[in-house]
Amino acid sequence: MTTSTPLGTAVRADFERTFSHQPIGIWSAPGRVNLIGEHTDYNDGFVFPFAINRRTVIALGERDDRLVRVSSSFSDGVVEISLDDLSPENLHGWSAYPLGVAWALGQFGANLARVTGFEIYIDSDVPVGAGLSSSAAIESAVAVALNDVWGLDLDRRTLAKVGQLAENRAVGAPTGIMDQSASLLGQADAGVFLDCRSLESEVIPLGFDEAGLELLIIDTKVSHSHATGGYASRRASCEAGAAALGTESLRDVSVADLDRAAELLDDETFRRVRHVVTENQRVLDTVRTLREQGPTAIGALLYASHESMRDDFEISVAELDLAVETALSVGAIGARMTGGGFGGAAIALTPHALIPAVETAVIAAFAAAGFGIPDLFVVRAADGAMRNE
Ligand code: GLA
Repeated sequence: MTTSTPLGTAVRADFERTFSHQPIGIWSAPGRVNLIGEHTDYNDGFVFPFAINRRTVIALGERDDRLVRVSSSFSDGVVEISLDDLSPENLHGWSAYPLGVAWALGQFGANLARVTGFEIYIDSDVPVGAGLSSSAAIESAVAVALNDVWGLDLDRRTLAKVGQLAENRAVGAPTGIMDQSASLLGQADAGVFLDCRSLESEVIPLGFDEAGLELLIIDTKVSHSHATGGYASRRASCEAGAAALGTESLRDVSVADLDRAAELLDDETFRRVRHVVTENQRVLDTVRTLREQGPTAIGALLYASHESMRDDFEISVAELDLAVETALSVGAIGARMTGGGFGGAAIALTPHALIPAVETAVIAAFAAAGFGIPDLFVVRAADGAMRNE
């Protein structure tokens, strides 16, 4: 693959300026947006995200000693560590993402005692904190690059697990496998239908173009962090619910089991469980509806997902609810908050001609409510991680 991008040109120059020699290659990986299937991944369930046309691009150069040095366009200076010292406890701040991947590759078979050090410069146009997986984009770009350079020959499913392990252990966020899978397995104009238990995946054409639809991102700019609070407590509720129901995970609970669950669980745990169980079903229904009727027919499922997250899982915020309701009132055919929740972005599947009207209405509604100014932009489904040069 030889695709020169403006980001690729900039990252090469930044690498040379920072490390005073030439990189041996350029790799990139996209952020992702989740069309549907929220908080289902760590419950062994189903998700349907796609990789987006916003990417993290890295330049990598080799060293002949044991040093690893990383730098980026979004931080000052160079973080330096020896391969001998790579462990989750020694990694902090943004550099835990790339360095965590180097460590995690060691947990998946790379012999870190035999490889040599490297230097990486990272640039990205994936917005941070919008729920578009800027972190998985870094992890996946570094994972494919080191997989190539160290000759590891790990497949993409394994590289997704590497990124997840880095995120869980080095960054300390108890997230699932969705983001890295989308970033590594995505294809242009298609969604990645992933079974998070078997890790079987299928790439399914979205057909947005043919249907005259666009996926509008409404970034509320309310920042979230998955390393703290709400995300972990939702995950704990799901695990408690599965244990109380005597199943390994909520994947094994079906919509038909919910009456029994209502009798066994306290109200809050029941509502957490009901979200996950019905969301798994909505992913299956969305994929089937998309195949049989096309994307204009999936709107109601997207909104049902939003209501379930707002009322049962309780991870929405007022800004996300307003974004969703406003977009729908102006003519979006479906809308929902996307990602982990507690802030970040909503998506609105919108007829092409209505995009300006939805944008104007959302900005006006936010101003009237006294909320901060949101950022709105359209994303397209793009190819997953690759070597560019
Ligand atoms: C974050 C996590 C994912 C997933 C979503 C919620 O994006 O990183 O693993 O759990 O939240 O669906």
